[in-house]
Amino acid sequence: MNHYETFLKEILIDEQTLQDRIGELGDEISKDYEGKQLMLVCILRGGVLFLTDLMRSLAVPHTIDFMAVSSYGAGARKSSGQVRITLDLQMSVEGHDVLLVEDIIDSGNTIASVLELLRTRNPNSLKVCTLLDKFERREAEVPIDYCGFKIPNKFVFGYGLDLDEYYRNLPFVGVVRPDKYIPPD
Ligand code: IMP
Ligand code: MG
Repeated sequence: MNHYETFLKEILIDEQTLQDRIGELGDEISKDYEGKQLMLVCILRGGVLFLTDLMRSLAVPHTIDFMAVSSYGAGARKSSGQVRITLDLQMSVEGHDVLLVEDIIDSGNTIASVLELLRTRNPNSLKVCTLLDKFERREAEVPIDYCGFKIPNKFVFGYGLDLDEYYRNLPFVGVVRPDKYIPPD
C-alpha cells in the first residue's frame, strides 16, 4: 500500500480541531447524561478512534459495547438500503440510555437500520452521536443528537475512516485525490 501523502488532496479537519470539538461534545454529553445509565454503542470499525477519544472526555460513568454491520465491500463507495448485523451487542440495552457513536453518517441507511433494531430492545433512551455528517447525501431520515462536523460530499479518510480498510490510524480527516489513489487488488 502507498503512503497517504501520495493521494492526500487536503486535510479537511486537523488533529487539534478534531480533539477540541470532541472535548466540547464530551462536556455536552456529560451534562445531558448526569445521573443516567449511559451506554455508548460503537459501530465497528470506523467509530473506534472517535469512541476512545470521546470516552476520555466524558465526566460521567458509562459502559461501552460494539456492533458491526455489513455495509459496502472494498471498492464500492455507496451503502445499500439493506444493512445486516454481523456482530451483535454483548450486553442488554434494556433500561440503559444508549448513545450510538458513529464515525460518519452518509446515506443514513446504516444508522437508520441500527436504530430500528435497538428500539425493539427497550432501551430507556436512544440517541445518536456522529463525528461527521455528510448531510447532502442523506437518503434515510435520521435524528442526529450530537454532531462533530458537517462536511461536504467528498470521500474522506483517516481518524477511523478507511480507504479499503487502510489508513484508519491517521489523526486527521483527509480528502482523497481519486486520480492518485490506487486501490489494492
Ligand atoms: P451510510 O449507511 O451511507 O450512512 O454509511 C455509513 C458508513 O459508510 C460509515 O460508517 C462509513 O463506514 C462509510 N462511509 C461513508 N462515507 C465515507 C467516507 O467518506 N469515507 C470512509 N467511509 C465512509
Ligand atoms: Mg462505519
